[in-house]
Amino acid sequence: MDSTEASMTEMDRSGAKLFFQTAPPLKNGELISEKLKEFVRRNSEGVTPRGIVCVTSGGTTVPLEQRCVRYIDNFSSGHRGAASTEYFVKAGYAVIFVHRRGSYQPYCRYLPEDSFLDFVQLDEESNIQVPDDHAATVRKAIREYHKAVGEGLLLKLPFTTIFEYLQILQLVATSINCFGCHSMFYLAAAVSDFYVPWESMAKHKIQSASGPHDMRLNQVPKMLSVLRNEWAPEAFCVSFKLETDPDILTQKADAALKKYGMHVVVANLLANYKEEVVVVTQNEKSKVRRNSKNEDVEEQLIGLLTERHSDYINQSGTRPNCQ
Ligand code: PMT
Repeated sequence: MDSTEASMTEMDRSGAKLFFQTAPPLKNGELISEKLKEFVRRNSEGVTPRGIVCVTSGGTTVPLEQRCVRYIDNFSSGHRGAASTEYFVKAGYAVIFVHRRGSYQPYCRYLPEDSFLDFVQLDEESNIQVPDDHAATVRKAIREYHKAVGEGLLLKLPFTTIFEYLQILQLVATSINCFGCHSMFYLAAAVSDFYVPWESMAKHKIQSASGPHDMRLNQVPKMLSVLRNEWAPEAFCVSFKLETDPDILTQKADAALKKYGMHVVVANLLANYKEEVVVVTQNEKSKVRRNSKNEDVEEQLIGLLTERHSDYINQSGTRPNCQ
């Protein structure tokens, strides 16, 4: 078996089935399906097949109570996903941006840390103006955002919990399956590894007066093999590996490549993930570094990934079939 052939164990299959059977249903599942249908219709028209990519971004939460007051969170600001979305659109892809509510958004990455009020001021007649030092950034963002949306190249789908994230990922995967090898998954979201199953979760706020609280966390099934084998078997799949120890990074990325049948694993270290990443495939380990602080490492990363995706499309030779 070569490393891009995914194997799927009975445990992966039954773990995924159980997770979906017991997860609280998506509140707006029908609306999301409608949006996806329309997005696929719009981007599958025309003679030249367009590439479509699902970018996942931000961290998933694990609620500890059904009427959730407390939750476990995952580290991710969503900056990587937001920046990558911009470069995918620039490269001509239609992008489904599956993101954590409140995380960084494409074309306004200077928010949410900087208040938008810092970018505007009132003149003497109370008209809203953008001060000169921010005008160029805001003008570029408005232009690029409206172009992406106007051309139908950007669909944004928000999630908060692990339950929402995995259900949305499944909906996206099955909706864009008709793009075959022209579809890509770029899984930059930081996904919870443990969760509290809905039926064993406290209904109301856990009371501290009762003293220390024991809680059992179940393992979240790894959906990468389900994605590769069942939801979108022809898609080009890129997953991420985040580690803190440089000595095990590429070894772990190699293992993920083989175990889940990924086409690419992007390995990054917490200490310098904004400056450099390592692109790991069956045949290469390429370091991608940004040249200066003013550049995004994602610009070069997306350049490399779109090249690898083109090679993959040329080898597969199939065309989207979304009619
Ligand atoms: O958002 P930023 O602040 O810019 O940070 C970007 C980042 C560091 C979060 C990003 O570059 C990154 O590394 N994201 C993946 C982090 C992660 O969760 O790694 P992991 O080893 O837990 O998971 C590896 C892969 O398995 C991921 O692609 C994830 O989507 C997938 N996964 C994880 C858990 C799970 N139960 N199922 C999965 O499919």
